[in-house]
Amino acid sequence: MFSTQHIPTKEEPRVCRLDTRRRKITPCTIVIFGASGDLTQRKLIPALYHLHKEKQMPLPYRVIGFARRPKSDEGWRSELLEGLKRYSRTKPVDTEEWTNFASRVRYFQGEFSDHEAYRNLKEVVDQAPEPQLRENLLFYLAVAPTQYVEIIENLSRSGLLKMSSAAENGQRLVVEKPFGSDLHSARKLCDDISLYVHETQIFRIDHYLGKETVQNMMMFRFSNSVLEPLWNRQMVGHVQITVSEKIGVGSRGGYYEEAGATRDMLQNHLLQVMALAAMEPPTSLEAEAIRDEKVKLIRSIRMPAAEDIVRGQYTAGEVDGESRIAYREEAKVDPKSNVETFVAARLLVDNWRWSGVPFYLRTGKNLPVSASEVRFQFKRAPYTLFAAQCGANLDQNSITLRLQPDEGITLHINGKVPGSSTEIRPVRLRFSYDAEFGAYTPEAYERLLLEAMAGDSTLFIRRDEVESAWSIADVIRSHWYGKDLTPEEFYPAGTWGPESATRPLNISRIDYGPPSTWRNPVV
Ligand code: BG6
Repeated sequence: MFSTQHIPTKEEPRVCRLDTRRRKITPCTIVIFGASGDLTQRKLIPALYHLHKEKQMPLPYRVIGFARRPKSDEGWRSELLEGLKRYSRTKPVDTEEWTNFASRVRYFQGEFSDHEAYRNLKEVVDQAPEPQLRENLLFYLAVAPTQYVEIIENLSRSGLLKMSSAAENGQRLVVEKPFGSDLHSARKLCDDISLYVHETQIFRIDHYLGKETVQNMMMFRFSNSVLEPLWNRQMVGHVQITVSEKIGVGSRGGYYEEAGATRDMLQNHLLQVMALAAMEPPTSLEAEAIRDEKVKLIRSIRMPAAEDIVRGQYTAGEVDGESRIAYREEAKVDPKSNVETFVAARLLVDNWRWSGVPFYLRTGKNLPVSASEVRFQFKRAPYTLFAAQCGANLDQNSITLRLQPDEGITLHINGKVPGSSTEIRPVRLRFSYDAEFGAYTPEAYERLLLEAMAGDSTLFIRRDEVESAWSIADVIRSHWYGKDLTPEEFYPAGTWGPESATRPLNISRIDYGPPSTWRNPVV
């Protein structure tokens, strides 16, 4: 189906381009709700600017920022420029490209609840001379989920948003996480929104899916025949999925009090990464085929018991020599808060491929390093020869997919230390993105915006994925319901979580696989 571009010479790598499949991105108007917010400044505008600079935006296009505060177009543009200077992944900002980009950007002041504002917005949209800019509308809801329904209802009433199941062009909605706060609220939100838009028009963001290395998991698994025989319960002892962060909750205390690590990270990013790492091969590369497999995997996860879970909350400590205050002392945090800033879970997948293989997931704030990785730890070598002599000192083979930073893939094997003695130690076979492709890592939001404009939902979360992920997160949280944190559940900032999590989550219901210890990522 896909043709290689040309016959490579001996030295050239064989490259297979799949972009030809991508739908054409047609000219469109992007309307950002929450235009004055943090996400717009830090992520959305830098992403759009880079897409513009790299000539990936469909021409013509327009960006309209919708927010409550009164501001002129010029005022908003200079705020955005300040943000760009701070957060842009390329520096300095290219003045000519910025000026050209900014000329397509305008501000619209309005209350989310004001019907009149939407009618006026429609007039602004309808002023565009090109019919595509009037019809192809991408509404980005960078606002609190409690405001989604009101905005969507008003968009629909004003005629800006029309329900349609046609995948081509028309109006689309991009919504940010968290999508609901539990299964019940997520279902309700889905039901409420579905009164106005078809599921194919909704693009639910999980920015982890826009990360280069997360996308590579599909290529890595399904374009390499050597891996498939390894990717199952016969070979894999256990899997560790870690998303550790050095940062604390900072100024997001108010949000975090409602979220906690389980809702903020595990329900979405960690389960999405797990689904991609463990799902069956999809029947095709179409969005629905891939999402079907992810849902199947998430639905096969056995509901974890209380002893499969560790929660934690950071107390004062130090990260990289910098002192950190306790979570309970952070701004907008209840001084008696029981919210978890760390969660680790041992999940079993009840399917043919993974039966009995524990997946250990952990994430936390104020940990010693910022790193995200998936580690497949293979079973021990048979107890003969070297294994018989070395015992536990013989390292188990593993494959680590390093998602960030220092993106790459490492195979740990054992090798002989050179010299006259007979020593064995682990050695690494490593593929590094930077070494292979140069230090170019586009922001996840660039890819996601592009896909949403193209109407390709592969990198977005479907309703059934959200719901099945919430049912797991709800069960995890239900084990803590009404229970105060115990002294063992606190961890000093700068450590790897509570003691109970740094020891193995070693529940002896199955007799192989649990990690002797978490393998902490090293930066
Ligand atoms: C967000 C969470 O979704 O992901 C944050 O709300 C977290 O709490 C962030 O810090 C981590 O993303 P990244 O891309 O920095 O790993």
